[in-house]
Amino acid sequence: MSMHYCLPDEFETARYHLRRVKADDAEIIFDSYATDTEVTRFLGWKPHRRLADTSAFLEIAAAEWDIGSGFPVVAFDRISGGFIGMFHPKLIGHRVNYGYVLQRSMWGRGCATEVMRWLVQHALAHPEIHRTEAFCDVDHPASARVMEKAGMEREGTLRSYFRHPNISEAPRDCVIYSKVR
Ligand SMILES: CC(C)(COP(=O)(O)OP(=O)(O)OC[C@H]1O[C@@H](n2cnc3c(N)ncnc32)[C@H](O)[C@@H]1OP(=O)(O)O)[C@@H](O)C(=O)NCCC(=O)NCCS
Repeated sequence: MSMHYCLPDEFETARYHLRRVKADDAEIIFDSYATDTEVTRFLGWKPHRRLADTSAFLEIAAAEWDIGSGFPVVAFDRISGGFIGMFHPKLIGHRVNYGYVLQRSMWGRGCATEVMRWLVQHALAHPEIHRTEAFCDVDHPASARVMEKAGMEREGTLRSYFRHPNISEAPRDCVIYSKVR
């Protein structure tokens, strides 16, 4: 059995059930948020136009799990079974870096915070992981707040760090947060 950090194929937080993403999740992701310009505003990709765009994206993401470099999971409400969104931890040596995206109707219920808290605790409990981190656009306070509420501390501004193509062609300044042990 590998000693390297990975996520379980499925797990639960108080309110959500999460499981490893599958190729046939493309439809639920396409229908719920991948075409939504509000959801994708601060993401690194343009809204998808066809289901094939989402399928291609998922194929790449799912392959990360097989090589142990990333653990994309989809989240569902434990009671209603309703789809929430996707969380995407990436393993970079002793660090885990997080991305997260929720469909719009699920915003503002503390979901991202609840799942991020679980993920950060899980990662830092592993002997090889010394740092959890995430960044967001300087103009995205909701995401910064999620990181803060997940127990991360703001470290500073990364200038011209990441291209958010729905805002500008030029790379954008981002704020980075981390929790270390
Ligand atoms: C960002 C996102 C993940 C937040 O998820 P969520 O489940 O709604 O987040 P939570 O409810 O756990 O927490 C959001 C916090 O941000 C705050 N917030 C929301 N909009 C805000 C704004 N415009 N300014 C300041 N704070 C804001 C909320 O009040 C809440 O904080 P509080 O509990 O102290 O009141 C969600 O909006 C999303 O999926 N957006 C689209 C994808 C995306 O941008 N992902 C992040 C890329 S870095």
